[in-house]
Amino acid sequence: MKTLSDISLKNKKILIRADLNVPLDDNKQVTDANRIKQFIPTLKYVVENGGIPIVMSHFDDPKGVPNDDLSLRHIVSKFAELSNLEVVMAKDCIGDSVQKQIEALKANQVLLLENLRFHSGETANNQEFAKQLAKLADVYVSDAFATAHRSHASMVSVPRLMKEKAAGFLMQKEMDFYNKALISPNRPLCVILGGAKVSSKLNTLMNISDRADKLIIGGAMANTFLAAQGFQMGRSLYEPELYGKCLEILGKLARRGAKVYLPVDFKVAESPKPKAGSRVVTAQEIPADTMALDIGPATNLLYQTAITDCATIVWNGPMGLFEEEEFSQGTCDLITALGSAHGMTLVGGGDTDAAIHKMELEHKFDYISTGGGAFLALLEGQTLPGVAALD
Ligand code: 3PG
Repeated sequence: MKTLSDISLKNKKILIRADLNVPLDDNKQVTDANRIKQFIPTLKYVVENGGIPIVMSHFDDPKGVPNDDLSLRHIVSKFAELSNLEVVMAKDCIGDSVQKQIEALKANQVLLLENLRFHSGETANNQEFAKQLAKLADVYVSDAFATAHRSHASMVSVPRLMKEKAAGFLMQKEMDFYNKALISPNRPLCVILGGAKVSSKLNTLMNISDRADKLIIGGAMANTFLAAQGFQMGRSLYEPELYGKCLEILGKLARRGAKVYLPVDFKVAESPKPKAGSRVVTAQEIPADTMALDIGPATNLLYQTAITDCATIVWNGPMGLFEEEEFSQGTCDLITALGSAHGMTLVGGGDTDAAIHKMELEHKFDYISTGGGAFLALLEGQTLPGVAALD
């Protein structure tokens, strides 16, 4: 995979695929600009090395139909503020009007193409649409790690149609951290997985059980693992149809001598509503009319102790129903513990990222991935099509 510094950019038109799919509030103001911020070093490098920057991205999912609410124009002022460049907004992402805007670009300007998904050809990976995009520029650069799990036109076909292509700095950084954490990690490697369902993380669990030295499980996912071993989980969320898979995963880890950590206590309540009289009970004594909604303090201490000697720690997924303050302690305590861990910490996934930002502790982690689905696809051991296309 070539990187930006391997190619000459001077006076060339550079088509950069970024992921500028950032959250907006009701007034269309960007509420989390992290993805834009992380993309700036690539953009700056292109400009400083004489390239003419043309930036493309999707925004949400308009399903092939132009929709003003989902226009990338809503992020223009934040993008201009963070890049210190004049951002020229294109009316479309392909066609003659875009060609004209490219020809008219001046120094210190960047052209932002309109939402790629206003054309159904983007998600359908339509070759004609890809050709229209490819003919806009001389060089293709991809910095859209967060979309690299999608085989969409701008991610896989445009790079194949263009002679010169390279990974941007963000893409490179994401893949470097992934390689350091999961492909050739300093050991012991601990993977912490949370979230609601074993079914949605089955491939991840299977892949990780071949790699990790320690696996820590939290969130409602842990309920299924405990129930599979005979624990009575009351009215907690769990998936009986996956008991077999859970036992298979535990067996796989045991054969490799890897250690597994499951909750030993929980915060339970009659319902997820905050004022439903929550209390801490041991995993052995969950009342039949309650549900486990967070890990308890003894579990926190256990998990904190388990990560102490780990050289690499990868985390995805909350430990409980952290959106409700009453059930957020387990996730918050884990964030605090990871923030002062000695090992390298790599974190990814929308909820996980949101929880860290809420505590304003992002600076305590070695790296927080900009990818949600893309990060999970890596944890599953998948090759990302948007990365393979740069080869
Ligand atoms: C994301 O937010 O995970 C990326 O921008 C990809 O978006 P998508 O799930 O709509 O493809």
